[in-house]
Amino acid sequence: MQRTKIVHLLQSDAAQEDVVVMGWLRTKREAKGFAFLELNDGSCLANLQIIADATIPGSEHLEQLGTGASLKVRGNLAESPGKGQRWELQATELSVFGQADPERYPLQKKRHSDEFLRSIAELRPRTNKYGAVNRLRSELALTMHRFFHERGFFYIHSPIITGLDCEGAGELFRVTTQDPQAAGSQAARDADFFGKRAFLTVSGQLTAEVMACALGDVYTFGPTFRAENSNTPRHAAEFWMVEPEMAFADLQDAVDLAEDLVRTCVGQVRQARDEDLNLFARFVSTELEARLDLLQEPFERITYHQAIDILAQSGRSFEYPPEQGRDLQTEHERFLSEEYFKKGVVVTNYPASIKPFYMRVDEDGQTVAALDVLLPGVGEIIGGSQREERLEGLTERMQVLGLQPEEYEWYRNLRRFGTVPHAGFGLGFERLLMYMTGVHNIRDVLPFPRTPNNLSF
Ligand code: 4AD
Repeated sequence: MQRTKIVHLLQSDAAQEDVVVMGWLRTKREAKGFAFLELNDGSCLANLQIIADATIPGSEHLEQLGTGASLKVRGNLAESPGKGQRWELQATELSVFGQADPERYPLQKKRHSDEFLRSIAELRPRTNKYGAVNRLRSELALTMHRFFHERGFFYIHSPIITGLDCEGAGELFRVTTQDPQAAGSQAARDADFFGKRAFLTVSGQLTAEVMACALGDVYTFGPTFRAENSNTPRHAAEFWMVEPEMAFADLQDAVDLAEDLVRTCVGQVRQARDEDLNLFARFVSTELEARLDLLQEPFERITYHQAIDILAQSGRSFEYPPEQGRDLQTEHERFLSEEYFKKGVVVTNYPASIKPFYMRVDEDGQTVAALDVLLPGVGEIIGGSQREERLEGLTERMQVLGLQPEEYEWYRNLRRFGTVPHAGFGLGFERLLMYMTGVHNIRDVLPFPRTPNNLSF
């Protein structure tokens, strides 16, 4: 089917004869002898205004046309005499793909709540806000691929089905072909598809390490799954993670890359999709622009110990009092980035006791070469580390944390054969989108959110 996208027509620098557009009707206003139609085809936020004369072929449909109907319109693009738009389409012919019964079509011209829109995930991308979110997702993903490509990173694909729990946190979804009643026994396990227990991946890191220890600089970008039962606005059971991994690199290299990735990509998306972002600045968060401007500042870099000292001396009463040895909570992360430093913050060198087995133990034997990036408004968006490349130390950490080193022979082989210092991190793609849009709930930046008791289709 030949059509011109509305985004291209609206950018036109001259009038055009005989173009065809296809899209969904947003509004219709009837006047004497003609109608104004606002058509949106998803290619951009703006609608195309169409003037349809009551005499053109297809005009017999005009009366029944309701919001949500899908149309094909042929016409001439002309300068609009009206306010608010440069171009309009003077229709010469109109046809209808499908009507949308106004009695039943749920997206009418009024404002709908986020909760209501979540209940119609099949239609919400047709609203301004969710159309914009999905275009921003696409732009951010592409920008990140470009970022890595320009720096010589290879895009690698980590498996979705895995036999391991990367984070050691136990928040795993089981993958099985067995009847849940029968699962559990050794016999059932042996008979299961892989002959052993299998899970959905919580992180592509361990396989990214394999690839980094062969190709140098790599990244993986895919869906990850966590059966965290925390029903918070920042956690989803299925979310996307961007995970670079670099060979011949240490903690500082990972910190530098994390800062560069966030600041460069947000800056580029702001330029490329300012129309979509302005929608959020106008209707979702009036502080958005100022918050995004904070990224022009280099990130503050502090250690975990410094972070706890700042929190303890802040005079603030936190729900979880900050204490050396305890993990930082969201309220702490937000205080540090939003109120104290008022910019992006990188916290490094956390206590070994609260971090996974693969992080490199520091010289003091107490902390690990971990990094978290905190941003105002969302808190943690990145977690990563320099990896433990020394076989003995790695095996010891596994034992301390109750893991079976034999199950990780392949991972330990990377340390046995030509081990190298290496480092990487995971960036929560949705968390960065929440930061960019000011959207408070992760369910509203995911096209089809999966959270506890919520799997619409
Ligand atoms: O800090 P995390 O758990 O790090 C890892 O998984 C490492 N293996 C990554 C690596 O080094 N390659 O998760 C990384 C980021 C978090 O900072 C957060 O932004 C996001 O993933 N994240 C979630 N986002 C949405 N919903 C959840 N349930 C999330 N859990 C983590």
